[in-house]
Amino acid sequence: MSTLSRLEKTLFRLQAQHACLAHAFAAIANRPGPVVELGLGLGRTFDHLRRHLPDHEIHVFDRVNGAYEDCQPDPALLHLGEIEETLPALAGRLAGRVVLANSDLGSHDRDGNRQVAGMSARLLPPLMAPGGLILSDLPLALEGFEALPPPEGVREGCYYLYRRSA
Ligand SMILES: C[S@@+](CC[C@H](N)C(=O)[O-])C[C@H]1O[C@@H](n2cnc3c(N)ncnc32)[C@H](O)[C@@H]1O
Repeated sequence: MSTLSRLEKTLFRLQAQHACLAHAFAAIANRPGPVVELGLGLGRTFDHLRRHLPDHEIHVFDRVNGAYEDCQPDPALLHLGEIEETLPALAGRLAGRVVLANSDLGSHDRDGNRQVAGMSARLLPPLMAPGGLILSDLPLALEGFEALPPPEGVREGCYYLYRRSA
């Protein structure tokens, strides 16, 4: 049996996600450029992103719109369908410009997690601006990115932070 309960794992993951997002908001405060949210889900992290980055265009991706009524993205920036198809379709518009991407695609399916982590690692890098940040709920094998240590107080292995080399 794992030393942490399911409740503790969820708690630490959400704390880590919140702290990594806070780090990213400070890091990109004065940087214009689009933001990408992979995994709308219930819209929780999208709601957080839009409150802290009101001047950024936030492109949101999921296969379905299951977000709370009060966490709905701008329909013009909501891209529904398989990310393998919807994200490359925006390459011309986003290439080299994204200052922050949050990849929140994980589930309890290990094989599925391997697959979505591979997809994010393959599709996100060409979109990222120099110095742009990728946050992820899964570890990503990214070339040309530096893995940053978790913010203070955050447990290792709960959420991941990468910065594109300038
Ligand atoms: C963990 S949930 C996202 C939680 C969300 N960020 C929140 O805070 O409410 C993961 C989401 O990723 C979506 N997803 C996973 N793989 C996908 C894929 N290949 N294409 C499109 N959506 C995908 C699922 O439909 C699910 O809604």
